[in-house]
Amino acid sequence: MDWHNLTKNNTPFFLYDFDKIKSNHAFLEKFLNLNRNKLFYSVKSNPNMCLIKKIDSFVDGFDISSFIELQALLKFGINPQRVSFSGPGKTNEAILSALNNNIKSIHIDSIDELNFIIKLKDKFQDTDFSLRIHTKGEEDKLGFNENDLNAAFEILKKEDSFKLKGLHSYLGRESFSKPYFNEVLDLLDNTINRFRDHFKKDIEIFIGPGLPSVTQLSLDANDYMNYKFPITFELGRSLISNIGLYGAPILSVKEESQKIAILNGGIHHLGSSLLSVFTQKNQDLCFFLRDGINRISTSSNEDISLYGSLCLGHDCILPHVRAPIDLKPGDWVVFNECGSYGLTASVPSFIGQDFPSEFATYIDPSTKKSVIIDVGPKNFKIYHESFIL
Ligand SMILES: Cc1ncc(COP(=O)(O)O)c(C=O)c1O
Repeated sequence: MDWHNLTKNNTPFFLYDFDKIKSNHAFLEKFLNLNRNKLFYSVKSNPNMCLIKKIDSFVDGFDISSFIELQALLKFGINPQRVSFSGPGKTNEAILSALNNNIKSIHIDSIDELNFIIKLKDKFQDTDFSLRIHTKGEEDKLGFNENDLNAAFEILKKEDSFKLKGLHSYLGRESFSKPYFNEVLDLLDNTINRFRDHFKKDIEIFIGPGLPSVTQLSLDANDYMNYKFPITFELGRSLISNIGLYGAPILSVKEESQKIAILNGGIHHLGSSLLSVFTQKNQDLCFFLRDGINRISTSSNEDISLYGSLCLGHDCILPHVRAPIDLKPGDWVVFNECGSYGLTASVPSFIGQDFPSEFATYIDPSTKKSVIIDVGPKNFKIYHESFIL
């Protein structure tokens, strides 16, 4: 890897390996039985439009959470019949826009959303609806719990012409396991049987399986992916987490009660904890570069915690990693598993530090050589800079 191209500005960077999308998809195709089921990319996990362009040919559609995500996809030429809309915080404006654009499906999250949508019945053309069912892996604010579910079907009893396409459920971050998944399928099955009259004939199920990075998954018998109704899986992390690196230069190294390094970077770029809920391992999650060029061997190493430039407790990017004993300012830390929930899951304007660049790499099919291209947004401004005309 030509690290110099990425580090020469001395500001943090993200690097996405586009070639890995193909192999991740090949794995997920088997794991999720995509002969029978469908795959939607969860745009919230990384809405970088160059990345979405690459992902487009591998997925059946895109799951969005907001008006802006919808606008971005439409502007980009994505067919609205390949778009679903989930999430607890849909604005009325976003729902209206989704209906006016005939997106494929809306996953209804609350009684208020259901009532709002029912009032707009006449605007529906091709959009399907499902109810999001609350599962134990999620906080209880999300989707319909048992009481809300009964109330929803009381409302639907009075709406003869309004039929649901199916049910929706998200298992929670990295919460996937075969028994839990089967438990959720049973719950959905049970709900459909209780209220069968309120569903269309050709029922579909929509599930965010909450898979970890594919690096944590292994292929085993997936007979349970042969559910009686086709499933549309919406996922982010498992498709793109391991394609991304985040690099940040070290500003200072300090001996406090333990050794710490302060980076030009942090939670304002990496919004979601890097530590996997699944493994809680932190040793394989980063490596180090000297002079922004060469990987430093960690054969003689010591325990160090890596902090962002804010340096408060919640800005600890990784606690207790093995680092080279002579780590110093000017060295770089490069974090693995940063393809999802990075830059746009964070608060990039906080303290106005350097904004990271975004690059992508792939092997050029004609020259067979590795290339690096800039895929960052061209007109992004940090809040502070927006005042400078
Ligand atoms: C409703 C819903 N679907 C899908 C996803 C994508 O999840 P993951 O990145 O774990 O695959 C999320 C993530 O929060 C979600 O809330």
